[in-house]
Amino acid sequence: MICVLGGRSLRGVVPISGAKNAALPAIIASLLTTEPVILHRVPRLLDVETAVRLVQALGKEVCWEKDTLKIWGGEKLSSEAPAELVQRMRASFLVLGPVLARTGLARVPLPGGCALGPRPVDFHLHGLSRLGARITFIDGAVLAEAQRLRGAIVYLDFPSVGATEQLLLAGALAEGETVVINPAREPELTNLTELLRKMGAEVTWNTDHVVIRGQEELGGAEHTLLPDRIEAGTYLLAGAITGGRVRAVNAEPRHLFALLDRLSCAGCEIDYGEDWIEVRGAQRPRAVDFRTWPYPGFPTDLQPPMVSFLAIAEGRSTVTETVYAARFGHVEPLIQMGAKIQVSGSVQIVEGVGELRPAAVEATDIRAGAALVLAALAAQGVSYVRGEQHLRRGYENMEGKLRGLGAQIWEEEG
Ligand code: UD1
Repeated sequence: MICVLGGRSLRGVVPISGAKNAALPAIIASLLTTEPVILHRVPRLLDVETAVRLVQALGKEVCWEKDTLKIWGGEKLSSEAPAELVQRMRASFLVLGPVLARTGLARVPLPGGCALGPRPVDFHLHGLSRLGARITFIDGAVLAEAQRLRGAIVYLDFPSVGATEQLLLAGALAEGETVVINPAREPELTNLTELLRKMGAEVTWNTDHVVIRGQEELGGAEHTLLPDRIEAGTYLLAGAITGGRVRAVNAEPRHLFALLDRLSCAGCEIDYGEDWIEVRGAQRPRAVDFRTWPYPGFPTDLQPPMVSFLAIAEGRSTVTETVYAARFGHVEPLIQMGAKIQVSGSVQIVEGVGELRPAAVEATDIRAGAALVLAALAAQGVSYVRGEQHLRRGYENMEGKLRGLGAQIWEEEG
């Protein structure tokens, strides 16, 4: 478990790693070619390890050199993704399209991942069947078959990040043009687009749709991942919740304007340059309302850490979660730490309290875990956060980075 002696203001500079959510589809994109795909700035965290093991299990060779990952080979890809890996992480389901496009057949178990309420894959399957895949279900797995995928117009009922990635990947090897209407526009999709273009795909973004012109085959590429905006947001909130001053470097301010706007309304001072962001916490922050929304809206992945911050603000905040049906894993443990939060449907009413108190709590998913670590940093005394494997899925060296900002945080058995 992770132990935190809270009550100190965090101060200093924290370097931001490459984005987990850009690394996963980029690693999976390597399945589209046999030539080398070289990725720089890849964060060493559990979900990335899972993605690496997944492409290896499908037939790729990989080698690491510091934060550079080289992936090559796989002339003969396996059509079967191992259940053990897919069930660990929802993003594994992205292999369905590339494996199908390369081999004509893919069998991928239904995915696992964070416990955030029901997270179906119907948009992915709708999209691939529009591209001509025959989809059946066998023993909890999806079986997709197609001689060659054919481009088509696909409408997404919600701008799903994963479904848009699935269609970019599959469309890149399909015959003709794939048009995705209502695609997701998260920065990680821009990053995947850049990689696919380097590999030879033609991708054109328009205001309401994206067009992918498929190729017979794709080549290798060398590509650098963008900074992790959720990691940066988490450390900036760690500074804000402790009334400190944190500067995130190697970061991209543009990707965090929704968070910075709300922090500024809460009374924090914000400063930023081309690749850094600094947040100075207020004496006592003010309550602010926000709703999560697809990019450029407030990211759902920062909703739980932001709720921890608002738990100590002056006044009542109304937080509306619109992306997930049940992203409230942080609420019960925060209440144990003295927060006053009421959940009604998709809305959390957060009544700010002057102080949080230390407690032994359990993380149930990555970002709930981050929310609890932030609350522990603000609470005077020692808190214990169990379920640290969730944090390891999504944060590279979290304890080390927080210690660099002056936090007293360590790991203990138990
Ligand atoms: C990605 C991110 C995750 C982030 C999320 C929303 C990765 C690896 N993960 O997840 O950190 O929280 O975007 O920004 O990039 N949905 C369906 N049917 C589908 C697909 C999605 O109903 O076929 C629903 C989901 O249940 C959810 C919503 O759409 O309620 C958004 O999901 P989606 O954007 O697809 O998230 P992920 O790609 O899984």
